[in-house]
Amino acid sequence: MANSKRLYLFDTTLRDGEQSPGVSLNVDEKLEIAYQLARLGVDVIEAGFPVASPGDFAAVKKIAEKVRGPVITGLCRANRKDIDRTWEAVKGAESPRIHTFLATSDIHLKHKLQKSREEALVLAVDAVAYAKQYCSDVEFSAEDASRSDLDYLAVVIENVIEAGATTVNLPDTVGYAVPEEFGAFIKNLRERVPNIDQAIISVHCHDDLGMAVANSIAGIINGARQVECAVNGIGERAGNASLEEIIMALYTRQHYFGRQINVNYNEIYRTSRLVSTLTGMPVQPNKAIVGKNAFLHEAGIHQDGVLKERSTYEIMSPELVGVKTNNLVLGKHSGRHAFKERMSELGYELDDEELNRAFARFKDIADKKKEVTNEDLEALVTSQVRAVPERFSLSYLHICSGTSIVPTATVKLTIEDKTYEAASTGDGPVDAACHAVDKITDIYGKMHDYKLNAVSGGKDALGEVISRIEINGKMFNGRGLSTDIIEASVKSYIDAINRYYFEQQRYREV
Ligand code: KIV
Ligand code: ZN
Repeated sequence: MANSKRLYLFDTTLRDGEQSPGVSLNVDEKLEIAYQLARLGVDVIEAGFPVASPGDFAAVKKIAEKVRGPVITGLCRANRKDIDRTWEAVKGAESPRIHTFLATSDIHLKHKLQKSREEALVLAVDAVAYAKQYCSDVEFSAEDASRSDLDYLAVVIENVIEAGATTVNLPDTVGYAVPEEFGAFIKNLRERVPNIDQAIISVHCHDDLGMAVANSIAGIINGARQVECAVNGIGERAGNASLEEIIMALYTRQHYFGRQINVNYNEIYRTSRLVSTLTGMPVQPNKAIVGKNAFLHEAGIHQDGVLKERSTYEIMSPELVGVKTNNLVLGKHSGRHAFKERMSELGYELDDEELNRAFARFKDIADKKKEVTNEDLEALVTSQVRAVPERFSLSYLHICSGTSIVPTATVKLTIEDKTYEAASTGDGPVDAACHAVDKITDIYGKMHDYKLNAVSGGKDALGEVISRIEINGKMFNGRGLSTDIIEASVKSYIDAINRYYFEQQRYREV
């Protein structure tokens, strides 16, 4: 008999999460995140929306072919063309799933789909039955379920299960529900739908009113056995329920919830860092579980309490979620061996080539910064997860700037072992340097977003710049790391240009 305590974690970082405004990941970045999600041990990875674009299709296909362990699924609308394409993308997976959806609320039926309830029911059943011909594992989502008429929704659920849906997902699409109500909604449907036990009930809650996690938990208490969420809570508008918060609520209050999940808790922090770095979406310091302050005690009374007995003010241990508290620093005299050891303590097993690259970057940073902390090292390797080769690399930067002079920059870039130089003025030092880069590369970017984050404390902190650059009508994320924030900014601009160049090359090769 199936274990009724087992709860399945469905991660939608790469689909709903990627729908976060401003986020766009390339195929290799998505693959890197998918590998990490598999290491974390989620049960299902929603790898994308294959019909959305050729890039989305390629990412889902690649993840399906390469990532082993979790079920791999792709989302599709409830029509045969979308289902065909999604099956093409997921069929290479060890355990593929087709996830099809159709709205069931009157608001969506009337204004968005212009369909009657009866017409929508036919479409939903046909989609599930059609998907079932390809794949035994089919999920149906009743979009805007929480605002749907309960009697009608119950009929839809009964019929899609009859047609072969193995999971039925009931989203709070617009984040409108409140926990007590949402819990009662799930309970009610479980009581009304006669064949409900033939499928797994899933919840998928959005955070528009800040209740996505609470609503998901209410759903779980009332019998949902799959929960859909995203790393760092990213997703459409205000985002999805946060994966790490759900995991740690279930773990910390295990006796209360009594649900069983199978994850590697100490991969949580690294997963959060990776997603934040690759999406360019910073995690707020006070974010539960993975925020910078989540395990810091500021008040004297609290510090005193924790020193005497941690459980006075700590309900979870930072080590459990992979936050390293051994912050013994490395410096410029640290050798390759110590560096390798520390990387492995932090959970990064680098092959020789990766180690050489990371060590060279470490030495570079250690030359400028007395103490290199674990946070610096993590930023260094995560920013090394660069999917694109470096066509253009910064070899020299000279800035002239001040309160009463026109900012001027001289830049040298290395391109295939040759060095090219240009100078330019601009509105500020970063602007001047970016113009100089444009002159060399003949690629012209427009900066849309710019974030500077101090990786660790102190005046000599490592600065991480994440920028969003528009090049020929398309957006590219760029990342740069340096103790000098102008240099980090220019590196992040060049990174975006490399991504653009690499994508152009790829299209040329196809
Ligand atoms: O929020 C939502 O309703 C969704 C579905 C398509 C699953 O993302
Ligand atoms: Zn959603």
